[in-house]
Amino acid sequence: MASPALFPVRRVVVGSTQHEAVRAALTAARPDLDTRGARYQDVTADDLAWADAYIGFKRPPVPTMGTVRWVHCTGAGVDAWFSPTELDRSILLTRSSESFGPMIAEWALARALAVAQRLREFDAAQFERRWAPRDPHLLRGTTAVIVGTGDVGGHCGRLFAALGCHVIGVSRTGAGDAAVFAERHPVSALTQVAARADWLLLMLPLTDDTRGLVTREVLAACRGAVLINGGRGAVVDEAAIPDALDAGWLRAAALDVFAVEPLPATSPLWADPRVIVSPHISGLTTVEGTVAGFLECLTSIEAGATPRWTVDRDRQY
Ligand code: GLV
Repeated sequence: MASPALFPVRRVVVGSTQHEAVRAALTAARPDLDTRGARYQDVTADDLAWADAYIGFKRPPVPTMGTVRWVHCTGAGVDAWFSPTELDRSILLTRSSESFGPMIAEWALARALAVAQRLREFDAAQFERRWAPRDPHLLRGTTAVIVGTGDVGGHCGRLFAALGCHVIGVSRTGAGDAAVFAERHPVSALTQVAARADWLLLMLPLTDDTRGLVTREVLAACRGAVLINGGRGAVVDEAAIPDALDAGWLRAAALDVFAVEPLPATSPLWADPRVIVSPHISGLTTVEGTVAGFLECLTSIEAGATPRWTVDRDRQY
């Protein structure tokens, strides 16, 4: 990618619930920056007509980005800047430098162990004062198929392998760290590989290519897998999940992300005891990480160089 033309960054709008802390840390590090902040929903057209740069996970609900020439997305996933329309390509788009892998991997492992150790069943029995022995299962000797072999998928792979799982990676190219993924397959093999999964982890970004990747047909190929989605809800045919559970294609599902968030109260997923719902908390952005990533990118921009965290507009991550 060509270097961006050097442009001055003096005025920064922060669109985040953490805007006060982010602005305070920014000002401490770079007192020459002028900042404004609000929840992203409350950022105004006037703010954006004032700003050179915008920091936030989502696009503010205004028609244009005003004078903004650089957007620093505070999340790992930048899909909010591509859908429903792509951020104008004349605006630089960078993403968080934080590694969300360790946190999302622990989230995923906690769900796998909760299912294997039947925590929900023992919880229910406990509160009914029922002594109800049942055999827990082991992760050891089972197969984890991880779709997405980047930072997040790689950390998941390491934890599942450490507990004795056979770990298979699926990615766009079929590449992946051979020290983590005992087998690596391209996404064209997803249906065949899903048939071998005890754990089917979705740890990939939402792009034009991955939207709806896990179709009803892929789910129908599963043989009692546990679906664990820490990526984006729209990667899977969410409406097919209840059917997949009823048909036994899936044994359980642990979902942190949903096609529509917050998950609507009418969704059947809420009340299904085979589904573990969490409210998009598996990988959290920190104030320190946001500011460090922004400042690292700013240093590059000021040197006339392309920031390391620049989003590839064609790949969409
Ligand atoms: C959260 O979902 C993120 O993309 O960082």
